[in-house]
Amino acid sequence: MKILVVGSGGREHAIAYRLSLDETPHEIYCAPGNAGTAEIARNIAIGAEDVAGIAGWAAAEKPDLVVVGPEAPLVKGLADELAKHGIAAFGPVADGARMEGSKKFAKQIMDAAGVPTAHARTFTDAAAAKAALAEFGLPVVIKADGLAAGKGVVVAETQAEAEAALDDMLVANKFGAAGAEVLVEEFLDGEECSILAMTDGERAMLLPASQDHKRIFDGDKGPNTGGMGAYSPAPVVTDEMLPEIKERIILPVVRELGKRGITYRGILYAGLMITPPGGKLAKSGSRINVVEFNARFGDPETEAVLPRLTGNFAAALLATARGRLDESALGVDSRAAATVILASAGYPGAYAKGKAISGLAEAAATGALVFHCGTRNGANGLETAGGRVLAVTGMGATLREAVDNAYAGVGKISFDGMTYRKDIAHKGLAR
Ligand code: AMP
Ligand code: GLY
Repeated sequence: MKILVVGSGGREHAIAYRLSLDETPHEIYCAPGNAGTAEIARNIAIGAEDVAGIAGWAAAEKPDLVVVGPEAPLVKGLADELAKHGIAAFGPVADGARMEGSKKFAKQIMDAAGVPTAHARTFTDAAAAKAALAEFGLPVVIKADGLAAGKGVVVAETQAEAEAALDDMLVANKFGAAGAEVLVEEFLDGEECSILAMTDGERAMLLPASQDHKRIFDGDKGPNTGGMGAYSPAPVVTDEMLPEIKERIILPVVRELGKRGITYRGILYAGLMITPPGGKLAKSGSRINVVEFNARFGDPETEAVLPRLTGNFAAALLATARGRLDESALGVDSRAAATVILASAGYPGAYAKGKAISGLAEAAATGALVFHCGTRNGANGLETAGGRVLAVTGMGATLREAVDNAYAGVGKISFDGMTYRKDIAHKGLAR
């Protein structure tokens, strides 16, 4: 198969890597890719958000399938453009990508479909929003409606923090149009997990559950990042919960979108909060509630989940893109996987680029998988080129072994300013 992967991060490297493991060889391209994808695919110099450029390339090159990594090109209508040229796209049309692009839209769909989620109200006026805070108690969550690079969510512990967040978004326009409308939302108590569901607009298949680590420092401290590590399976999600997640969350959303004329094909990623026994139940009365939806594979969840998938990955993606998902097409390796992100000093704030990276061959020799997130081939050979630089995945018979194998790989790698969390999978290991 001839396949184009759109994007340039660790997620896209993991997608290209997993495609390269299929028994039948593929011709894989990445737009634009990175130094890691260059080793297993052909990088083409078209930016991931250049919808016209990618559609033009696809119209000329006629790939069998385009797999879209990031949300921005989906929200901009890349899948819609590809459909005009008769090219199969794994990733939803723009109307479907609104599940990620607009938190208000996602709430409307969930409310219409009866999907358990945090109770929320939408506001454009700061005074009205502040007047409503009392209904929600503390802590309370304030969210910009639109895409704000993961920074548009404030979990406010005090009334003053909540009011400041509302002023930032609605008065000072800190997030521009993305924050012109805000949601004031009920705080959900519990432990988060990520469910990546593959759907063709009718059927769905849940990929193995995983858990991300959003904060920069050990112990889940410090500012939010794009994700500092992940592991799968995530024991907070028990086997009994999976049918419930599929039947009460994923399928109702897909069907509600379908009723509105939106055929959602690709990954519907549900960020869920699991409230423990004894924890404070949400207004919905459910122990499993949706925190957010994304319209794509998670990063770094993908680097932990995809190495566990068995079967013909490309065929499963293509069948999904064509509306013929076979729910038994992929199997799951019983081994666990753990992924540690190596970041540049300063991330998620300002950081330097162009630092030479060494030890990747030695890391690979330990058996760890090294995915490139922000790298380039520059004056120093392989160099850092982003905040998140590498994702190192270990596999093992147990989660403990997987974590140890990941850190054994990490131990071989170095670059100036390299930082990483030492406690990846701590919640899973504690169970
Ligand atoms: P989001 O961008 O919606 O994923 O929110 C970012 C993070 O804020 C989530 O991963 C949660 O850790 C936290 N968060 C968002 N909404 C809630 C909520 N209703 N209750 C508790 N935590 C939340
Ligand atoms: N790891 C969080 C995300 O992909 O949105």
